[in-house]
Amino acid sequence: MEQGLIFAPTFFFFVALLLGSSFALKEGQTCVANSNCDSGLHCETCVANGNVRPRCTRIQPINPTSKVKGLPFNRYSWLTTHNSFAILGKRSATGSLILAPTNQQDTITEQLNNGVRALMLDLYDFQNDIWLCHSYGGRCYNYTAFQPAINALKEVQAFLEANPSEIVTIIIEDYVTTPRGLTKVFDAAGLRKYWFPVNRMPKNGGDWPTVDDMIQSNQRLLVFTSKSSKEASEGIAYQWRYMVENQYGDGGMKAGSCPNRGESPGMDTKSRSLVLVNFFRDLPDVTQSCKDNSAPLLDMINTCYEAAGKRWPNFITVDFYKRSDGGGAPEAVDVVNGHLICGCGNIATCKTNMTHGSCQLPVAEVTPASNTSSAFSYQNCRILVLWCLLGTLFVAKLISF
Ligand SMILES: *[C@@H]1O[C@H](CO)[C@@H](O)[C@H](O)[C@H]1NC(C)=O
Ligand SMILES: *[C@@H]1O[C@H](CO)[C@@H](O)[C@H](O)[C@H]1NC(C)=O
Ligand SMILES: *[C@@H]1O[C@H](CO)[C@@H](O)[C@H](O)[C@H]1NC(C)=O
Repeated sequence: MEQGLIFAPTFFFFVALLLGSSFALKEGQTCVANSNCDSGLHCETCVANGNVRPRCTRIQPINPTSKVKGLPFNRYSWLTTHNSFAILGKRSATGSLILAPTNQQDTITEQLNNGVRALMLDLYDFQNDIWLCHSYGGRCYNYTAFQPAINALKEVQAFLEANPSEIVTIIIEDYVTTPRGLTKVFDAAGLRKYWFPVNRMPKNGGDWPTVDDMIQSNQRLLVFTSKSSKEASEGIAYQWRYMVENQYGDGGMKAGSCPNRGESPGMDTKSRSLVLVNFFRDLPDVTQSCKDNSAPLLDMINTCYEAAGKRWPNFITVDFYKRSDGGGAPEAVDVVNGHLICGCGNIATCKTNMTHGSCQLPVAEVTPASNTSSAFSYQNCRILVLWCLLGTLFVAKLISF
């Protein structure tokens, strides 16, 4: 009893230290809550990789344009969410329970604020409107309908409005047959003024306009559809006229091979200047995604680099983009941007306005290891001390009774 009273103030002191905002933990360090971790990180385990110790993991890539700004759009890589709208735990706006699988954990606004720059959206005709559904057979049902598309598009509009030097890409799996249905919903969301026109898109594998140009002309929204006819009828770019893409789902996760998706030209087709890499399962799996988004994703990016005729992906598409055992999809984007922007192995090591190929050796403070032993640092010691104290407290209690 008495011992307990003595230990209690010490215990609370350490809890205060642990939870206090006076320090922020780095990638790989043990944590108890998201607020312990530095910005761009959150606190989680990856049990699928045998990692049961909660630690700070990446949820945000380094801004691709933060080091070198004036390059063509196709010289950057962008974090992309598959079915960005199919959010875990959401109810259908019809009021129905959703029976469709879900692919992400946070809202489109949160995704954009974490540095996601391309959204994959499935759009359907539904209830005399255009809806976001994760459905089948080209039809939407109450139990596969998430919400009217305009809600999500307005989130994109608000983000573009608030962030005048950011560029967002929307890739539509298009089931809309209502004439000019897409045009109407994009207009109603206030997105017309950001539209990047199809006639400025390179048709024969040339470079895209520079990001500076796109920002200055305020053409900061790229929209691609899976329906070829809409390019002529509505001025919405047919995705595979500009982009190659590997197989999605389980077929795209076989180590060592990177076949193209059926609708896409072959991966090495150089007349398409954008490259997209999908890496997610047929059935989204929140538990396994932390493993998928880690080493296997980086491996596949290297495989697809070779398959695409030594071209790095401009879009890296995953489920549950926040899940990983350390760096995850944000780190994959950083690695690719390192190659694209300055020829280094990670954008963290690119210097401001660096010319391509003049790579320096990494400086010590960047890219902390996803290495358990090196991550065991001062802050971890505090946590260890906390557990020791708890143990002592417990023993002290036992003794006193
Ligand atoms: C679907 O939801 C709407 C409300 O948005 C409701 O009026 C309709 O009855 C529902 N349909 C079915 C088949 O449950
Ligand atoms: C990088 O280049 C841009 C223009 O190209 C210039 O405005 C900026 O000051 C440069 N930054 C550094 C650190 O040299
Ligand atoms: C982790 O760090 C230790 C010691 O610094 C080193 O021996 C080991 O090779 C590292 N492991 C990895 C996977 O980097």
